[in-house]
Amino acid sequence: WLELPWLKLCAPLARGRLQCLQVSVFANRSWARTDGLARLGELQAYSWSDGSDAIRFLRPWARSGFSEPQWERLQQILRVYRRSFTRDVREFVKMLRLDYPFEMQVSAGCELCPGNTSESFFHTAFQGKEIMSFQGTHWVPAPDAPSWAGRATKELNQDQGTRKTLQWLLNDTCPQFVRGLLEAGKSELEKQVKPEAWLSAGPPPGPGRLLLVCHVSGFHPKPVWVMWMRGEQEQRGTRRGDVLPHADGTWYLRVTLDVAAREAAGLSCRVRHSSLGGQDIVLHWGEKELGLGFPMACIFLLLILLNHP
Ligand SMILES: *[C@@H]1O[C@H](CO)[C@@H](O)[C@H](O)[C@H]1NC(C)=O
Ligand SMILES: *[C@@H]1O[C@H](CO)[C@@H](O)[C@H](O)[C@H]1NC(C)=O
Ligand SMILES: *[C@@H]1O[C@H](CO)[C@@H](O)[C@H](O)[C@H]1NC(C)=O
Repeated sequence: WLELPWLKLCAPLARGRLQCLQVSVFANRSWARTDGLARLGELQAYSWSDGSDAIRFLRPWARSGFSEPQWERLQQILRVYRRSFTRDVREFVKMLRLDYPFEMQVSAGCELCPGNTSESFFHTAFQGKEIMSFQGTHWVPAPDAPSWAGRATKELNQDQGTRKTLQWLLNDTCPQFVRGLLEAGKSELEKQVKPEAWLSAGPPPGPGRLLLVCHVSGFHPKPVWVMWMRGEQEQRGTRRGDVLPHADGTWYLRVTLDVAAREAAGLSCRVRHSSLGGQDIVLHWGEKELGLGFPMACIFLLLILLNHP
């Protein structure tokens, strides 16, 4: 998926972001398919596959926000949209003399911002690169898009009806819909699940070096801060993996640090997450040895105390 900075509109104070993603593959002049999904925040809530016009609801609360007749209407709109999107793209390809095969992506939706306002977005990509977006009232080509994108936006901007509909969908319908979903899905969306964390050594990156791995697992929501530290000092070499989903809707993250073996002592992994209420998890590298050593130290201390009453 296309993941670009536009996705942070009024974050981090945003309350809910509905993002609809569409992928259309055009194999040749006669073969194309379009699939879609929509997610609220990080949760996938809807899917829509080329084989059927029915929207699939992936969460119990996903049906709220619209009434049954409104859902049926939306399915009709989507059916028409799919057909006209495919037709229009083929026309553009002919007009602009582009080549098959290619892939198009659309990312559109809105985000609720503080003060009961909202921001919306509608971006289109061709072969994984953004080509145009809808800004306020018009289509605008992306800054580094090929020159044909300019011609395409000019053409699209002549269609006043579609521009009006789009503004209505983005400015009014979308935020209203998200407000309804947030209310209905509150218990799942605001669920807080604490992470578990543990350390391990990865494959040695070279002679005399260690790969320290900090695993953070089973947390919700997705935002998490994990850093390798020496005392209070963040270690610049910290490498963060992708946050990966577990089947139960929680998340997993792996954060590594490549260090000289003799410098590993004194390093710790610090985990900060909204579920922890300000109490960071701190795991010290080598604690295991320390853990084994601790009873021995106690016995030594006892012996010393016993011998020197
Ligand atoms: C178009 O692409 C589809 C899917 O790849 C393929 O099955 C079909 O034979 C192609 N048709 C032509 C006319 O090339
Ligand atoms: C927020 O704005 C929407 C429409 O702009 C309105 O319907 C709703 O009542 C407002 N909510 C609050 C809490 O002000
Ligand atoms: C929709 O919002 C944009 C700003 O994001 C504004 O420029 C435009 O006039 C609005 N359109 C309508 C019909 O409300």
